[in-house]
This record gives sequence, structure tokens and C-alpha cells, in this order.
Amino acid sequence: MYKPWTREITVDGKQEMEEEYFAAHASERTIREWSTLLTRSIGAISKKTSRMGITCKNNNTVNESQPEPLENRMVMGIDPEKVISYLRQKPHTATELADVLDRGPQTVMEIVAQMQKLGYCVVAKQQRIMTSPPGPIQQAPIVTLQDQPYDEIAFLLISDLHYSNQHAQVTAVHRIVDLAIKEYGINFAFIAGDICDGINMYKGQANEQYAIGADAQVWAAINHLPNRPGFRYFLLGGNHDGSFYKAAGLDICRLVGAARHDVDYLGAFAVDVPITEALSIRLWHPSGGCPYALSYRGQKAVASMGAQELIELMASTDRWYDQLDALGESLERGDVVSSFKETVGRSMSRRILGIGHLHVMTHFATGGIHVFQAGCFEGQTSYLKQKQLTPEIGGWIIRVQFTRSGQIKRLMAEWIPFEERFDDHRAYPLPPMPGEANALEPIFSYEGEAG
Ligand SMILES: [Fe+2]
Repeated sequence: MYKPWTREITVDGKQEMEEEYFAAHASERTIREWSTLLTRSIGAISKKTSRMGITCKNNNTVNESQPEPLENRMVMGIDPEKVISYLRQKPHTATELADVLDRGPQTVMEIVAQMQKLGYCVVAKQQRIMTSPPGPIQQAPIVTLQDQPYDEIAFLLISDLHYSNQHAQVTAVHRIVDLAIKEYGINFAFIAGDICDGINMYKGQANEQYAIGADAQVWAAINHLPNRPGFRYFLLGGNHDGSFYKAAGLDICRLVGAARHDVDYLGAFAVDVPITEALSIRLWHPSGGCPYALSYRGQKAVASMGAQELIELMASTDRWYDQLDALGESLERGDVVSSFKETVGRSMSRRILGIGHLHVMTHFATGGIHVFQAGCFEGQTSYLKQKQLTPEIGGWIIRVQFTRSGQIKRLMAEWIPFEERFDDHRAYPLPPMPGEANALEPIFSYEGEAG
């Protein structure tokens, strides 16, 4: 139901014009407090501040133990977050869940199917319903990216687009994709995680977002990621994307992949993608603790890895999310490297490692393995400013020439940097979300008398 901002509201017993009052007092309350006072959604308040060019009080009181709730999504009258929290305690049979939810077992199975469609990580396996790690529902079978016997391949490696954060560098992503296509004839990109900005990642994060909540962030990503004929993206989920999984069992990358035919969602945190039969790239989004504070430490850790360690890291056969079961679904895992090293088995085909998360770039090769830190497409957030860290905005064009057996003969890498553009997202206004067209601000409002 559309509520005009020309309403009269009552604040502290006084009648006020809503829009004027909001404009004059915006900085006195947080977005959440305004949402309660004006009985409008957080998204509506956030959009209004962005249209009026004003800011609300910084939400420094966000309590990490009380995460922001996701928007209300009801499935057949049941709150899916309630289902997820039951299933996180332990797997349930349909009958057990039916008792808890006060529905029939048949309805419970329909709820599970609907939740899957909405992006929730829940599965029915061996008569039990349980949560599942983030990742695509059906893994797209990629044989190799090189389906023709070429002797050279080129691709784009980008990461950490953080769509929905006001520091997202939307123009730069458009430019690098266009440059890759026009100047290098490239037709695919790897995204090494954090396509969206997520939720509850640091204090005051929502105040830096132009899209708040899972649905709005998916909408931002599918509208802001450049769509070019014949160009494909291979998407890895990162820890910011995973914040919705952590909060509510929701995998937003599934939703991005489902909405964009040119996006193949491969999985979360680490995946291997075969380029030729003898060569594959591992995409890796390290996680653990506070993502930004670890940036430079993470960079140093990777740079100081010995060749043998790196070979072992690349040789591990586990999928990262196989390990989530053992972690009790906690995505906060510090020592990713050692967890990989614990695993056995090796495949010498993994010769390129594309790392997201660190927001800084570097390329080095050791032990025959090329390591790329992918940089990012997010400017300096308040968090980085506080820590005096400067992100490196840009991406890698990588060209590989192969030997006849498909191994690397030559590898040429070009870093394409971009200057940060302030408030760049404003140049790309989002269309109204489906079902929200009536929430548009009227251009004219009729104030005279009828007739
Ligand atoms: Fe990131």
C-alpha cells in the first residue's frame, strides 16, 4: 500500500508534515528507528534518504548478537527463518517438522520445495529434512571452458563487487567488461566472491547501503552487473554473500544465478573450474573473523606461502563447503589454509589461484602456480577509512597460451586499475522491484479540491 510522504504524522504529540519533519530531523534517528516511527520499511527509508541526499544517524549501536532480521518472507503462512532455526538444531523428519509447524507432512514438503525456490539452503535427504551448505542446487556440469582445441585462452578475473554498498564501483565493472570484450575478445569472467554487500558485516553497514535486505541486494546485483551479449560470468559466493546464509539459511547467489541467464553460480568459498583438461583455476574466497581487518595479513600470508604449501593448497580435493557440516555451519573459519592442507589427494592441474576477499591486488608465481589476488570494485568504506586501508579497484585480464598437452606455456596478466568514483551507484538508478511499482514517488500530487 503506497503511503504518500505528504502525510501528516504525530511526533511527541505534535502534528507534523512527514517529509519536512524527516528532512529536518533525519540525523537524529537511525534508519531502523525511522522505520518504526514512520511505519515504513527500512528499504523505503533508505531510498528516501538517498533521493533527498540526506543521511540518518549512524547506527553505531548495532549489536552483533542481534543481527538485522531479513524482510518478512512467509511461505504458506510459515516464517522460513523459523524453519531454518529448527533445522539448524538437528535434521527433522517431515512428521516431526509437521508437529512443530502445526501443518501436515505433505504441506511441510511443499514448504521445503518453496523455500528452495526462494534460495533457502534446505534439502530433503533420506527421509529427513535438513539445512545444506550454500551452493547451486544443481551443479552445472562444466567439462572445460576450452571446448575447442585452441592454443590460447583469455578471461577476466574480478571480485568483490559489493553491489548495494554505496561505495560499489558500478561504472568500473561496466568498463572492464567492455574493455575485455572489445580489446581482448574475452567472453567470460570469473567473480571471486562478494557480488553483494550482505548484512551485519560491520557496525553501521546498513547506513552505507543503497539496497537493504536480501531481495533488494539481489535486485541491485542483477541490475548492476553488466549484461553483454555472449558474455558469461562464473560466480563464486563470498563471505558477504554468505551473511544471508548465516543469518537465515538463504543463499542469495542462487537467486542471482536464477535471475541472470549469463551467470553460472558455481558454489561458495572455493571451487575449481577446468579450463582445459590439464589445467584448472581454483577460485577462493577466504573467510574468517573480520573480513577487512585481515586484508593485509591475508595478503602477506599468501605471499609468504612456500611453493610446497601452495602446491598442497591447490592439490586438496575437498570442496570448501564439504567442511561446513563439520563446522556446524559456522562460516567464521579462520585457518582456511591449514584446513586445505589437512586434506589428501592432489591434482596437479590446478595451476591458477584466483583469490577474492582481500580487496588488494597482486600476482606472483611460485612452484608453477600463478596466484592472483583479484582486487575489488568497492571504494573506501567507513570501515576501511577507520583502518586507514586503501582498496585496490580493478581486475585482471589473464591470457594463457597452452602447450599441446594443455599445460601453461605462457601466461600474460594485465592489471586494469580504476579511480574510485564517489556515489557512483547514483548514476545507475535501480528500476522498481517487481511488485513495488506502486511504491514510486508521485511526480505530481493533487492538492486542490475535486471537481
Ligand atoms: Fe569483499
